[in-house]
Amino acid sequence: MRSYKAKTVEPISLPSREKRNRILEEAGYNAFNVDAADVYVDLLTDSGTGAMSGEQWAAMMRGDEAYAGSRSFHELREAVADVMGFSRVVPAHQGRGAENALYGVLVEEGDTVLNNAHFDTTRAHIANQGADPVDCPVEGARDPTHDAPFKGNFDLARGRTVVDDVGAENVPAIVVTITNNSTAGQPVSVENLRQVRELADEIDATLVVDACRFVENAYFVKEREDEFADWSIADIAREQLTYADAAVMSGKKEGLTNIGGFVAMRSGEYREDDGGVDHDALFERVKQRAILYEGFPTYGGMAGRDVAALAVGLREAVEPPYVEDRVEQVRELGDRLKEAGAPIYEPVGGHAVYVDAGAFLPEIPREQLPGQALVCELYREGAVRGVELGEFAFPGADRMQLVRLALPRRTYGREQLEHVAETAAAVAERREEVSGLEVVAEPPMKELRHFSAELRPVE
Ligand code: F0G
Repeated sequence: MRSYKAKTVEPISLPSREKRNRILEEAGYNAFNVDAADVYVDLLTDSGTGAMSGEQWAAMMRGDEAYAGSRSFHELREAVADVMGFSRVVPAHQGRGAENALYGVLVEEGDTVLNNAHFDTTRAHIANQGADPVDCPVEGARDPTHDAPFKGNFDLARGRTVVDDVGAENVPAIVVTITNNSTAGQPVSVENLRQVRELADEIDATLVVDACRFVENAYFVKEREDEFADWSIADIAREQLTYADAAVMSGKKEGLTNIGGFVAMRSGEYREDDGGVDHDALFERVKQRAILYEGFPTYGGMAGRDVAALAVGLREAVEPPYVEDRVEQVRELGDRLKEAGAPIYEPVGGHAVYVDAGAFLPEIPREQLPGQALVCELYREGAVRGVELGEFAFPGADRMQLVRLALPRRTYGREQLEHVAETAAAVAERREEVSGLEVVAEPPMKELRHFSAELRPVE
């Protein structure tokens, strides 16, 4: 049941079919080139696109814009301590700024970093340090029909094999991304985090949790991990983070803000066995790097008002009505899409439904980008915008051909979900007519091509 009502509204409209056809052509069949005003239901990302609460807007007005030592920073620090259990926080302008501040001091050239699956910006920051980002997803994670409760888990056996290959001294950090965005938003169990902690202790590595969607993860833990069935969401949310030395956070996800992020770290006394990690030194080094790239460590690239809104948003994120509504809405979208005949990745994850475009458009071979073809048809049919995560975004990679439909938080209602499902059903109806696409212009960096490349239908 919806746990909020509208106080402020933003008009949206559905352009005519003729206009949508024209827009698609003018955008070079790339949804990133379409203006938001021409999109009816925008499921491009759940990052920074949600609605803030009245309390958050009130906090914006009270934000303290002092360069150093602002009251808003203290509010954020207290919220991070209460909600996430970390006593130290270094703010950043958004998640990737936090990644730069942390991985820039933690990772050196020639190192290897393990992750259940690196998100794009995480992978880029590790690679930017001259290090090797290695994914350790569990068996079945890349199978959209495999049924398991925690398909986001870190594969310990694979992690140990990599450590043996490259040498423990060359693995400074292990990252666990909860939920796992690069594996269809799948959750990670607390038991798995405990086991990764053991591995990190064995090799004296820093354990980092990418906590962008940590409350959605807690919801799945409560639902699926027996030990936690009677725990509150807030307690699980904190418990899962106790295994980490540090967390990277994008406020644009479960900070419920439109911008912002931070690195959270514990002080030494938190964990008796420090696993060889010098928490005091890490904090000092992250702070220094953050000054260079983000700003003074009490605002870190955010306006004081954004810091204030983030402090409130973090506390709202662990309230049960928010997260129940959130995860169940995503699940509802998944159910409706299935009913509409769209094959989807299952079970449905926390922030998005991932449509299996390879199965949806089986006539289109991988080289002709079935995922991007589906993105275009969803726009053409109903001005719905999603994002391709397959051959177009990751050329040459052996990956599933997925289209992600990410729901912004507290933004759309049931009518819009229905519209998305009807749109998918209409595309399914004429799937034989959908043609593949070919790239006609792309930027020099292949890793970034999906943001700006232009395409055309294959003859
Ligand atoms: N880590 C994860 C798991 C993410 O999903 C993102 C962003 C980041 C880090 C970086 O955070 O955008 O604030 O710099 N994901 C967005 C998405 C962009 O659409 O999935 P950021």
